[in-house]
Amino acid sequence: MLSRSAIRAATQSSRLPGTARTASLAATGKAPAPAPCTSSSSTLPIQGRRYISMYGYTQAKALVYSKYGEPKDVLSLHKHSISAPHGTQVNLRLLTAPMNPADVNQIQGVYPSKPPFDTSLGTAEPAAVGGNEGAFEVISTGAGVKNLSKGDWVIMKRTGQGTWRTHAQLDESQLIRIENKDGLTPLQVGTVSVNPVTAYRMIRDYCEWDWMRAGEEWVIQNGANSGVGRAAIQLCREWGIKSLNVVRGRKTPEETEALKQELKDLGATVVVTEEEMLTGGFRDMVHEFTRQGREPIRLALNCVGGKNATALAKTLAPDSHMVTYGAMSRQPVALPSGLLIFKNLTFDGFWVSKWGDKNPALKENTIKDVLQLTRSGRFKDIPVDNVEWKWDAEGAQLAESVQGTLGGYRSGKGVFTFTGGDE
Ligand SMILES: NC(=O)c1ccc[n+]([C@@H]2O[C@H](COP(=O)([O-])OP(=O)(O)OC[C@H]3O[C@@H](n4cnc5c(N)ncnc54)[C@H](OP(=O)(O)O)[C@@H]3O)[C@@H](O)[C@H]2O)c1
Repeated sequence: MLSRSAIRAATQSSRLPGTARTASLAATGKAPAPAPCTSSSSTLPIQGRRYISMYGYTQAKALVYSKYGEPKDVLSLHKHSISAPHGTQVNLRLLTAPMNPADVNQIQGVYPSKPPFDTSLGTAEPAAVGGNEGAFEVISTGAGVKNLSKGDWVIMKRTGQGTWRTHAQLDESQLIRIENKDGLTPLQVGTVSVNPVTAYRMIRDYCEWDWMRAGEEWVIQNGANSGVGRAAIQLCREWGIKSLNVVRGRKTPEETEALKQELKDLGATVVVTEEEMLTGGFRDMVHEFTRQGREPIRLALNCVGGKNATALAKTLAPDSHMVTYGAMSRQPVALPSGLLIFKNLTFDGFWVSKWGDKNPALKENTIKDVLQLTRSGRFKDIPVDNVEWKWDAEGAQLAESVQGTLGGYRSGKGVFTFTGGDE
């Protein structure tokens, strides 16, 4: 385990203050190149898998939407082509891209950030590409590209650029290179930039931990089996912070027990169900977990809202913090006034997209830290429901797999893995 002082030193030292085509043009400010050819008649299959036209265009497909609605109703697969990269442009092939709850909210039109709709991919209507994170492999680079080469793995610096696409063309400046991909999988790289970064920053930035009291202070969180929750459990374990984790009970006691055990195996100190938390006696349970209150619960991470969030807040020690980052129950957060007046609790919200845009260097360092933990086997993969995206996959099937993302009690996060065109 890293000592708290080591973690603090590492973190403080790192604390520095279309479509693909369109995005890269926007970044360079150059005039648009001729529209890409979208005809499939001039394409040649290479090794039966990758399709490159005789003019050097890479054939690509993207899951796009041109109006808001349910993913199954508004997502469609659009075929287009991408020119050979020039200047600082980089051509990419998708490895893995997850389907996160926010991606669906974005498609539904209920998320605060909305990617611009445009026709740069040659869609009949202005459209945006779905997805906000993923791992890509560099397949070719323009002559001006300095820090990337063929075979490198990259992730997009910012969210909102569209990752549910077989190929993309971006400017080098829009990409983060994975410095050492040895010991990492596309899944680990493709899911590092949203959930683990969110957990990491909430734990680090919203509580003044007493580093002399390692193992004597607590985080409480709901949605503990979510991607963010699992990351928080493991980071707490690494940093010597105990975690009290709340999950929703499963259909049978055995399944509930199995879920609790899964989280304990990740490093959770205690796991309780929402039902256990909301019935009488939870206060006494907390008293016991925290050695009669001698080990304060100093930070609550709220993914759910509603009564669940109120119950989390009530366990906090005076002068502690609750950070809300999700609203899975769609219920508002209601707080007894006494928590504000007499306990002096602080309530904040955290949004990784905005934070990352303001702190690009720190985001990159946070990603590096998590990937280092991953490489060393101390940060485990999330459970996934893999959706293989072959070149000839049907758009309706891909859209259907996105549709289930907001459903509860899932066995794993939906993840697209592109298996075509891996020259
Ligand atoms: N603010 C930010 O910067 C930020 C960053 C990342 C994620 N998020 C948000 O964090 C939340 C979790 O994201 P994720 O990708 O980690 O999720 P995920 O891995 O897809 O897991 C979803 C979680 O939500 C729970 N859940 C689903 N429906 C629920 C309901 N009706 N009531 C209570 N819990 C429910 C699930 O519990 P069950 O297994 O019991 O269904 C599971 O724990 C989402 O709201 C997401 O938008 C926010």
